[in-house]
Amino acid sequence: MRVLGIETSCDETAAAVVEDARVVLSDVVGTQVDLHARYGGVVPEIASRRHLEVIDDVIALALDHAGIALRDVEGLAVTTRPGLIGSLVVGLSSAKAYAWAASKPIVGVHHIVAHLSAARLAESGGEPPPVEPPFVGLVASGGHSDLILVRDWLEPELVGETRDDAAGEALDKVARHLGLGYPGGPALEAAARGSTEPVEFPVADLGDSLDFSFSGVKTAVVRLTAALGPDDTLRRRADLAAGFQAAVVGPLARNAARACVAEGVDLLIAGGGVAANALLRSLLADECAAAGITLALAPMRYCTDNAAMVASAGCELLSRGRRDDLLLDCESTGPIARRRG
Ligand code: KG4
Ligand code: ZN
Repeated sequence: MRVLGIETSCDETAAAVVEDARVVLSDVVGTQVDLHARYGGVVPEIASRRHLEVIDDVIALALDHAGIALRDVEGLAVTTRPGLIGSLVVGLSSAKAYAWAASKPIVGVHHIVAHLSAARLAESGGEPPPVEPPFVGLVASGGHSDLILVRDWLEPELVGETRDDAAGEALDKVARHLGLGYPGGPALEAAARGSTEPVEFPVADLGDSLDFSFSGVKTAVVRLTAALGPDDTLRRRADLAAGFQAAVVGPLARNAARACVAEGVDLLIAGGGVAANALLRSLLADECAAAGITLALAPMRYCTDNAAMVASAGCELLSRGRRDDLLLDCESTGPIARRRG
């Protein structure tokens, strides 16, 4: 089954063709990062206008790179939630128009489920990893820090989430504060490499909960930075960056492994933009090795927003009989329910 995926939930205009949920035939991402960089964050109006300008070209390129025409796909999948409403609507309207014009089925995809599905995609030319439920998935991005239990792809359950900032959001804000640039995650990671003595920050103690909290440590960095004088060395900034990075990704890795143990599953997958972070990837590997858990990380290429992950999740839904119609909107796909009990 070949599916055309469309993703416009934030600042990437993306389209891709994926076969049988795992094999990427094409993957086009039109990034807007340059447009937003000078504002230090995504400006929703600019994002939606840019999506509108490029979406048709991005879709045409995705079909072209896959060497197929629209009539050759078995269906379309589009991100419906969560995201910037003006941006989501551009992808949604385009997907509906193409589905209607080609008489193809369409299905709405939850962006977080798409990030989980990224762990099923093969690195270019490689074998797709054998990722099958049950598993716990960590999705850490600019908008989310979620732990999801997946016993069935169609019924994901939320077992942990951030109580304040998302991990990527906290990294972006602190990077901006330290004058490191945008997007903040990779900038902070690069700055942290110059650290010799990372600052040790306290981590929020949320008891037995699998939730996260990053706003306290974010405030701690802001206070410490304010105390830095103009003569303070770059190294001090690097030490703050390294300490903050560790205080964010440490709990992500620990709680992800704890969730697996608590749920009795032995597969952990990780995706979302922050999962491109090298320290997080190595801490996850350590935690999993210690607890006898198999780790499947989304390939770096598919950690940040892309449409291959949306097409992959859409393949699963379409092949299991899920269909939406042309009334599809941002509410049609349900939220991921918090696990009961
Ligand atoms: O998944 P994504 O592309 O978009 C959202 O759905 O939010 O994630 C973007 C987030 C940003 O906060 C960015 O700073 C962070 O992922 N990010 C990273 C790295 N690369 C991207 N954070 C830490 N280390 C990285 N290497
Ligand atoms: Zn995302």
